[in-house]
Amino acid sequence: MNNITILCFCFTSFFVTSLAADTISANHTIGDGETIVSSGERFELGFFSPGNSTGRYLGIWYNKISKGKVVWVANRAIPITDKSGVLKFDERGALILVIQNGSVIWSSNTSRHAQNPVAQLLDSGNLVVRNENDRRTENFVWQSFEHPGNTFLPGMKVGRLASGLDVIISSWKSNDDPSQGPYTFEIDGKGLELVVRQNSVLKSRSGPWNGVGFSGLPLLKPDPLLSYAFVFNDKVAYLTYDINSSIALTLVFDQGGVLERLAWIDRLNNWIVYSSAPGDNCDNYALCGAYGRCTIGNSPACGCLNRFVPKNQSEWVRADWSSGCVRRTPLNCQNGDGFIKYYNIKLPDSKIRAMNKSMTTEECRVKCLNNCSCMAYTNSDIRGNGSGCILWFGDLVDIRQYTEDGQDLYIRMASPEIVAHTLEGSPKKKKVGIIVSVVLSAFLLLGLGLCLFLQKKKKHSRHNTLGRTKNKENNTKEQWSMTSQDESLDLPHFDLTAIANATSNFSFNNLLGQGGFGPVYKGAFKGGQDIAVKRLSKESRQGLDQFMNEVKCIAKLQHRNLVKLLGYCIEHEEKILIYEYLPNKSLDIYIFDQIRSKLLDWPKRFHIINGVSRGLLYLHHDSRLRIIHRDLKLSNILLDNDMNPKISDFGMARSFGGNETEANTRRVVGTYGYMSPEYAIDGFFSIKSDVFSFGVLVLETVSGKRNWGFTHPEHELNLLGHVWKLYKEGRSLELIDELNVESCYVPEVLRSIHVGLLCVQHSPEHRPSMSTVVLMLEGNGLLPQPNEPGFFTERKVIEENKKDLSSTNEVTITVLDGR
Ligand SMILES: *[C@@H]1O[C@H](CO)[C@@H](O)[C@H](O)[C@H]1NC(C)=O
Ligand SMILES: *[C@@H]1O[C@H](CO)[C@@H](O)[C@H](O)[C@H]1NC(C)=O
Ligand SMILES: *[C@@H]1O[C@H](CO)[C@@H](O)[C@H](O)[C@H]1NC(C)=O
Ligand SMILES: *[C@@H]1O[C@H](CO)[C@@H](O)[C@H](O)[C@H]1NC(C)=O
Ligand SMILES: *[C@@H]1O[C@H](CO)[C@@H](O)[C@H](O)[C@H]1NC(C)=O
Ligand SMILES: *[C@@H]1O[C@H](CO)[C@@H](O)[C@H](O)[C@H]1NC(C)=O
Ligand SMILES: *[C@@H]1O[C@H](CO)[C@@H](O)[C@H](O)[C@H]1NC(C)=O
Ligand SMILES: *[C@@H]1O[C@H](CO)[C@@H](O)[C@H](O)[C@H]1NC(C)=O
Ligand SMILES: *[C@@H]1O[C@H](CO)[C@@H](O)[C@H](O)[C@H]1NC(C)=O
Repeated sequence: MNNITILCFCFTSFFVTSLAADTISANHTIGDGETIVSSGERFELGFFSPGNSTGRYLGIWYNKISKGKVVWVANRAIPITDKSGVLKFDERGALILVIQNGSVIWSSNTSRHAQNPVAQLLDSGNLVVRNENDRRTENFVWQSFEHPGNTFLPGMKVGRLASGLDVIISSWKSNDDPSQGPYTFEIDGKGLELVVRQNSVLKSRSGPWNGVGFSGLPLLKPDPLLSYAFVFNDKVAYLTYDINSSIALTLVFDQGGVLERLAWIDRLNNWIVYSSAPGDNCDNYALCGAYGRCTIGNSPACGCLNRFVPKNQSEWVRADWSSGCVRRTPLNCQNGDGFIKYYNIKLPDSKIRAMNKSMTTEECRVKCLNNCSCMAYTNSDIRGNGSGCILWFGDLVDIRQYTEDGQDLYIRMASPEIVAHTLEGSPKKKKVGIIVSVVLSAFLLLGLGLCLFLQKKKKHSRHNTLGRTKNKENNTKEQWSMTSQDESLDLPHFDLTAIANATSNFSFNNLLGQGGFGPVYKGAFKGGQDIAVKRLSKESRQGLDQFMNEVKCIAKLQHRNLVKLLGYCIEHEEKILIYEYLPNKSLDIYIFDQIRSKLLDWPKRFHIINGVSRGLLYLHHDSRLRIIHRDLKLSNILLDNDMNPKISDFGMARSFGGNETEANTRRVVGTYGYMSPEYAIDGFFSIKSDVFSFGVLVLETVSGKRNWGFTHPEHELNLLGHVWKLYKEGRSLELIDELNVESCYVPEVLRSIHVGLLCVQHSPEHRPSMSTVVLMLEGNGLLPQPNEPGFFTERKVIEENKKDLSSTNEVTITVLDGR
């Protein structure tokens, strides 16, 4: 091309005198060898031959700059084989390129026609056809800027224009052949982003416009030399840019489908490539699959986003990333998903994207949160504090990680991940991550409300992150998106007189039972609903502030499988909690009763097991507080009118049992038969001790037998030992409460027993977490094999006891120190 361009330059030198105009009027013609030059002498139009080609083409190139770049070609696909080409107007006012035998090989073919047409080469490089006396841009009948080749000149608009025309840039086939190559550079008007396609297949994308640039196209970051604008509304979506006219700078889409930013450097007397895009391997569309992220400089470049794992490990290790990654904790939309912020990434692609320019960040978050298929959101405009909203529906693909560029994205996460993420934000980052349950337990034992802890930490993280980006303040809130009323407590305070009246002065006739922390009474306000009144024992050494904090914490725990706290009362020595009243009482009075157990057929029992598992999952992972129940048992599972289970007494152990001595703890807080070995023996509890109790609850519910006090004519084993024995012998079905045999659905029964056994494993780390339990119960995947349960027989306990104390000495001491 260089030779030829210089040739053209020579032509220009020789012939420009004869046509010192920038305009072609109706009865002018331009033949091969003649040119016109724009008024500022920046661009020139004429015939040329590209590269080593001998074909002749009509085109526009930079004037005066030797090695001039051809920026536009008329007859791209049809070279003229001789020098007979002539550019002129036809009788309809269209510009045509005619060859010797009279064939029109190119035309400025438009529906509109000019009365007195002239063609003018503007100093921007735009060849326009217009009416002679009308210079208004909007009235141009035709312009080369709307029919570009491989060059995106300053001032050009690429994308969807108001006329409905889609302007796209397309590569040349080769240096010798300007006809359309396989690559196109387009605006995706729906996604509001730039895309590169090869033979119509998406190869690379920029990420959506964010008011300043494109998260995946640092090439187009604003700089002193040029300013970009991305204009979009209902009708148009186009990109344009401007430069300081004292420089020569342009964008060229080369044969390989790469957009190059070229600048003319006088000193070098040549064009240099400033930067180009797609620039590297990570710009290849969806290289790392769904939720994979591409990081240049990493080897391999593909990895999973944090909190994601390869979907197919065996493919992944063989560098086949196409299956991508999945969340390590599956989403559970009904159970309070939230969002975690990912920094400096190229915003992803997905099946559906929606945008609303006028939404606030908070509206955006809520909108996404409320639609279970919404996987991510972020601001559509990052200027100022950020505004507008983009929502992603479906798997996120084509993510890359930058260290500085890119944008922040909020990705939907299951609530356990959000809890974990929140804890990671604490200054004791690693420690918490590794021994989270120990630390948490220590907190619990310290009697220091975790609530307080979290509130402090929240302040801390807010403080910590200020200044990283401008819209940090908003963002910190996002991490706390699980409960909508974080800060306010709408829990009513009742006065003592009213409660005394409602319970006939705490009369014996109203007594429902004796809970772990005091008696529970049935009550009813005048004309109002029934209530359950829990009168806390007076020995609690808690101060009022602490009590209030704890009440607030419990008040925030809301789940359909938890008994609802309706109000509280503090007066004189009294501390009272008011709960919803559940007429059907507790699960134990059904399961362990010959007659009433008939009311609970298998489907109801399975429903109850599932409900309890979800309630417990919420306490452990989904609520902000991570509550360990410590006294899960059948009598603490209450049943509503529809026999839906509701866990009661949650949060009580933590809140009101903190001052017990170890012996008291055993007596009051735990219940024999439900306590895990490490809790019963060492007083050490964690969420896994609750899992143990849950396992016992499941096995009792299936069998209709109590674990504590279980007897069997054939052996001395407790219920757990008995279940284990049957399981090993493949006789699990014999466990079924004989009263319920008819309603049994065998796969569910076997699965429940299996999960029950996994929950009562001796060592806490062999027990599944509640999130796994929920999945196991509801799914139909293969379950791991259980080993012999803890508390297999009574004799065994004593032996385990000794061993345990020595092996977990450190943990025990940590916890005791905590007290
Ligand atoms: C076209 O050429 C004729 C003479 O050849 C001239 O009289 C006429 O003014 C020209 N028209 C225009 C629009 O320049
Ligand atoms: C023209 O052809 C020569 C010899 O085949 C080659 O070396 C050169 O690179 C070609 N020039 C262009 C611009 O393709
Ligand atoms: C004119 O010549 C071109 C090739 O140079 C040929 O394709 C076209 O058919 C010819 N047209 C006429 C009308 O002869
Ligand atoms: C003019 O446009 C029509 C339809 O857009 C097309 O079919 C025709 O080939 C074009 N003519 C020329 C000379 O390019
Ligand atoms: C254009 O660049 C020149 C030289 O760098 C500078 O003096 C001038 O202020 C710039 N003009 C604009 C409008 O930025
Ligand atoms: C993982 O990929 C391999 C090879 O493509 C396939 O054989 C295997 O079934 C896949 N595993 C899963 C769990 O999808
Ligand atoms: C965009 O959001 C605003 C504010 O929430 C709302 O009023 C408007 O209806 C939304 N527009 C569309 C098209 O959804
Ligand atoms: C969630 O969003 C998708 C995509 O916009 C929509 O098709 C679906 O109806 C929405 N679902 C709900 C429950 O609003
Ligand atoms: C950004 O947010 C801060 C704090 O909320 C506020 O003071 C400031 O005015 C906001 N800036 C803009 C441009 O909205």
